This record gives sequence, structure tokens and C-alpha cells, in this order.
Amino acid sequence: MNTLFQPVNYGNIISSNRFVMAPMSRNRATIDGCATAMMATYYGQRAGAGLIISEGIQPNYVGQGFMNSPGLHNSSQAQSWRQVTQAVHHKGGKIVAQLMHAGRIGHPSLYPSAHQSLAPSAIAAKGEAYTRSGLQAYPTPKAMTKQDILETIEDFTQSAKYAIEAGFDGVEIHAGNGFLLHQFMATNCNIRHDEYGGSIDNRLRLTREVIAAVCDAIGAARVGVRISPENNYNDIVETDSDKLYKALVNSLPEQLAYLHIMEAANRPQTEEIRAMWHGSLILNPHKSWQDGPVSPTIAEQVLAAELCNGVAFGALFVANPDLVERVRVGAKFNELDSSKFYGGDEDGYTSYPNLQQATECA
Ligand SMILES: Cc1cc2nc3c(=O)[nH]c(=O)nc-3n(C[C@H](O)[C@H](O)[C@H](O)COP(=O)(O)O)c2cc1C
Repeated sequence: MNTLFQPVNYGNIISSNRFVMAPMSRNRATIDGCATAMMATYYGQRAGAGLIISEGIQPNYVGQGFMNSPGLHNSSQAQSWRQVTQAVHHKGGKIVAQLMHAGRIGHPSLYPSAHQSLAPSAIAAKGEAYTRSGLQAYPTPKAMTKQDILETIEDFTQSAKYAIEAGFDGVEIHAGNGFLLHQFMATNCNIRHDEYGGSIDNRLRLTREVIAAVCDAIGAARVGVRISPENNYNDIVETDSDKLYKALVNSLPEQLAYLHIMEAANRPQTEEIRAMWHGSLILNPHKSWQDGPVSPTIAEQVLAAELCNGVAFGALFVANPDLVERVRVGAKFNELDSSKFYGGDEDGYTSYPNLQQATECA
């Protein structure tokens, strides 16, 4: 039977256990999108996870959705990530870079020059962006031209190369949570009439092209893909998710390092995808939203049911840098302070004690 403490391979990535740290934006990068020493400490503290998936990283300027989110689109940014990957590797961990283009979930004030946000169609998302001058409504984005699409694929590819240069063990392409690739998939924000809109195959075209280009650039065995079927974050409405995700999963390269599902309370759909996908699968399980954050008990259940090969924990890894050790010895968890999720300093970021520090303070 699979358990959280057994090693597992995700393509070329050899993971010492089945704990995966879920990608989580913490908005503590420099204004230029560089990683900092504090970020290296944070990720290094969590290197007990068999695999860390970094926070969402923008592959180009207009891919930035949030203040102080990091980038991987120039060599200074790539260089800045080296301290992070080294901190994780030094402690025997593995880390992949989540490449996340926010699309219409952005704001021009986040970009260094006057650009409009890009999206499949010129339809603004409902909601507001956090900007330096407070909350502002998401503006109407520019419907991407064919040239914008080609450049975006190229930017994902270059970003993946920067990730490898920076020492990451691979990349995860973010195709969920209402960001650019998900926007192309969803009929409420993609009303294009060209080969990138309309039919399921057309709405999946950009995601498939990005995956293919990134796999070509760094090898499929170092590439993961995250999807979030039926997750309506960021004003996404899916009308044909069953068919759409089956079509996507059916066309994924077999050698992919892993498929990662952020489950949004549709367990039968997860089971169907599991039955179709013969590669490694990482699950961020939410059978129902009432279950709260992923717990070790939930993780053991989905592993025992062979629904997945690894389990992604979000909130628990924020508050417990040594989560794996705590679960191993049956220790209590630290209390989470969600008010410190986004932006700020060490407080609520690198300040959570590990077991040894907690004992010393007691
Ligand atoms: C502070 C925070 C930031 C997040 N940022 C991202 C992100 O950058 N990319 C992403 O794919 N998901 C992001 N998520 C979603 C998490 O990866 C995860 O799916 C979610 O926390 C649910 O898992 P949990 O129940 O274990 O917390 C974020 C979640 C939190 C709490």
C-alpha cells in the first residue's frame, strides 16, 4: 500500500516521500521580480517535502498578476533563484518552478511600461486587483493576436530554460485557477472565432502548444502540468469540464513528470482522470470544501485508494516548515495566520517554529 513516507519518482524527479508542497504565492519578491534571501530561507525550511512546487512565477511582464510576485524572464531573475534552489538541494529536497501567466487577472500598474493585460478575449474579469494604490477593478484586457500568442509560447519556453539555469529540478505549467491558460479553456472568457476559440480542441490549443514547446525545450520528464477542473476562482465558468479535461489528459505527453490536479469537490471526475492517466499524478484533494485544508488523514486515504502518487499540501506547509517530521512523530501543528499570506516580512513567513524551536520556547 502507498503511504506518505514512501519514495516516488515524478519523471526525472526522484522524491524521497509523497509530501508535495503546493504552489503558494507569498508576494515577497523584489519589485523587479527577483527572489530574495528570505525566500531562500522559507523554501529551505520546507525542504523536507519530497517535492516543493514554487509559488506562481510570471514568464513575462504582462504575466504578472500580483504585487511582488517573482518572475523568470531575465537573467537577473534566474540568477536570484539560485539561492532558493541551492537552499532546498542543500537539505536534500527537490523544487520545481510554477510558471504562471495571469492573463486578465492582472493590472497595468504592475507592469514596468504601459501595457494592457492580455487574454483570449476583451472581457474583463469580475473582481479587483491588489495594486500599489489599493484595490482596482480588473481592466478590460487586450484580446491576444496570433503574434501575442506566439510570443507567449516563446516566453513560457524561455522561462523554463531560465528555471533549469537557476537550478530548478523542473517546471510546473499552471493551467488552472482562472489564469491565462485556463481563460483560454473557459467559454465565459474565450469567445474567439479563430483556431484558439470555439471547439474544445481549439480552446485547448494554447495549453497544448505551451506544454509541447516547454517539453521540447527542457524534456517532458522535467515538466508537470497543474489543472483545476471546475474551480471557479478568478471568475471562471466551465460549461463542459468533463469533456474538456478528458480531451486534455488524453493528449498529454506520456513522459510528462506529472499531472497535478487541484480538486474542486468533484471526486468522480478525479477518479475518471486517474483511470485515464497512467503517468504520475499529484493530487491536492478536496472531496468537499467542508473538509478544510488537506490533512495527513485525507492524504493517506487518497494514496491508499491509489488515486494519486503524491499529495499536495498548501496551508499546512505554510504554518509547519517541518510538516513531514511532525506527521512522522505525531506532533501538533502550529496555528496558521492567514493574514500574513500575501506580502510582508519574515513574520508569518519564515517565523513559524520547527519542532525543536517550539520545544526550546516551551
Ligand atoms: C497563500 C496561498 C497562495 C496560493 N498561491 C497559489 C499559486 O501561486 N499557484 C497555485 O497553483 N495555487 C496557489 N494556491 C492554491 C494552493 O496551491 C492549494 O491548491 C490550496 O491552498 C488548497 O490546498 P490546501 O487545502 O492544502 O491549503 C495558493 C493557496 C494559498 C493558501
